[in-house]
Amino acid sequence: MTDAPNYGFDTLQIHAGARPDPATGARQVPIYQTTAYVFRDADHAAALFNLQEVGYIYSRLTNPTVSALQERVATLEGGAGAVCCSSGHAAQIMALFPLMGPGLNVVVSTRLYGGSITQFSQTIKRFGWSAKFVDFDDVDAVAAAIDDDTRAVFCESIANPGGYITDLDAIAKVADAAGLPLIVDNTSATPYLCRPIEHGATLVVHSMTKYLTGNGTVTGGCVVDSGNFDWSASGKFPSLSDSEPAYHGLKFHETFGPLAFTFHGIAIGLRDLGMTLNPQAAHYTLMGIETLSLRMERHVQNAEKVASWLETHDAVAGVTYAGLASSPYHDRVARICPKGAGGLFTIKLKAGYEGCVKFVDNLEIFSHVANLGDTRSLVIHSASTTHRQLTEEQQVAAGAGPDVVRISIGIEDADDLIADLDQALSTASA
Ligand SMILES: Cc1ncc(COP(=O)(O)O)c(C=O)c1O
Repeated sequence: MTDAPNYGFDTLQIHAGARPDPATGARQVPIYQTTAYVFRDADHAAALFNLQEVGYIYSRLTNPTVSALQERVATLEGGAGAVCCSSGHAAQIMALFPLMGPGLNVVVSTRLYGGSITQFSQTIKRFGWSAKFVDFDDVDAVAAAIDDDTRAVFCESIANPGGYITDLDAIAKVADAAGLPLIVDNTSATPYLCRPIEHGATLVVHSMTKYLTGNGTVTGGCVVDSGNFDWSASGKFPSLSDSEPAYHGLKFHETFGPLAFTFHGIAIGLRDLGMTLNPQAAHYTLMGIETLSLRMERHVQNAEKVASWLETHDAVAGVTYAGLASSPYHDRVARICPKGAGGLFTIKLKAGYEGCVKFVDNLEIFSHVANLGDTRSLVIHSASTTHRQLTEEQQVAAGAGPDVVRISIGIEDADDLIADLDQALSTASA
């Protein structure tokens, strides 16, 4: 399928980016397990290296299986193009890389996946970049944090671990007024529940490790470019607007227009950072995406049922699911995530840190793992695992305090999940 903007989501999740293999007619996207591609002749090679012709040179940059996935994710997000890479964390670096430089900063939400908080608060400093953490519910504080050295604004649509929903329209307005791109991590929502570009996002990043692949088999990431941002307007993004010395003086925005960021991501990002997705992983993710809408519907149905039950349980002090009428984020669901608030939330146990540890140890259907977005139901006690590098203050700000357990609801029978939670909660509070 090439251009099919009018097809529905269920059709596009199966067909976008895929066409019968030109050599064999294979209906499923083949795994092109090859490192290099034979040039027709020296002129063809030169045209490919000059980006005058689009094609395949070397699989660190491009690969037909990965290209099919890029096209599929870009289509589902309503973007102009996408670059896949080796993990969600790689996608975040790939998204920031063309925008940032030593001394520059990104304004980020305090409600992020714990690994992202560490990546932004610690690791990016080694590049000379920095992050300013702000409560994104305080839109004025986001605006106030932006300064002359800010080059992007970053948040999650549905935040991991709390399942809180960011008011993307309000944040996009702030970013837009400052002439900055808004980057939205749409991992927990997926494009089935939320389409950040429709709310003003410039770039959308994914950990495809989660719901997009959907069954815990792949580590992968993706950056989707809306194609809507004017990289040349402010002079703040010279790698995209000016002659890029790393690509013999090419001006990406002038040459590729709405595909500037995508071409830059491949020609410089993947070429020089090398965070490439392998074709086998791309194949698994393509398979996963074929059933994305069906799975997300069931994740949402189950999460609504389980969260409502948990909310009334004596051992539970609180449930953060935005799909509950009691959630302060409930009003945002219809506007930001019209098909539901996802399958991810946290519960606070009255029995505190020790109770949380007992609870996760006694679950039978739920697995205690550092992952989410699987067909299987998963839990994690963030404070003793993913968020243990953070201070208690950072843990609480991220919604992952010591008495909190993150729950990723799978697509099993909801009644079985409730029975499992019930027996583990009884043990934890005994
Ligand atoms: C919301 C979110 N973004 C990014 C990441 C990082 O993704 P990956 O583990 O694929 O690098 C994660 C991982 O848990 C995540 O939950």
